[in-house]
Amino acid sequence: MAQMTERMQQLFIKVPAAVLCTATADGAPNAVPVGAKRIIDAETILISDQFMNKTLANMKSNPRVAVTFWEGHEGYQIKGTVTIETSGPRFEETSRWIEEMGAKAGFPLKSKGAVILKIEEIFGVAPGPGAGKKLA
Ligand SMILES: Cc1cc2nc3c(=O)[nH]c(=O)nc-3n(C[C@H](O)[C@H](O)[C@H](O)COP(=O)(O)O)c2cc1C
Repeated sequence: MAQMTERMQQLFIKVPAAVLCTATADGAPNAVPVGAKRIIDAETILISDQFMNKTLANMKSNPRVAVTFWEGHEGYQIKGTVTIETSGPRFEETSRWIEEMGAKAGFPLKSKGAVILKIEEIFGVAPGPGAGKKLA
């Protein structure tokens, strides 16, 4: 497992969306923006699935994913393995959160699942000599 620093966690929360990258079992890539994201702890993040289609199919057959997020020239790439929860306390809490998010936005939103990502590696993506360096 790898742990996000406080700074990485703050940035992950702050950015309006991160890019979630998945691949089919035989390697066809897929990248989508995701905004419904939370930190569970330094080595675990949660993304709510409202609309995932190819992404969900990919994660079911190949749970290894990457998430990239940035602001300005500061950015990070997280790699890890997901599990998908469609029942239980974390899913129920996610359902309530997404319903409230929809109510605030003025259109109904419904979570189909909580994607739990256990972080295994973290890389920097800021441009410059350290680009792509493994940080954790
Ligand atoms: C700014 C933005 C934020 C999004 N946030 C989410 C999200 O948090 N959860 C989700 O399921 N889909 C979200 N979507 C939709 C996905 O990006 C994408 O449309 C969906 O996963 C279907 O694509 P796929 O078939 O490649 O999975 C968002 C889209 C945009 C443009």
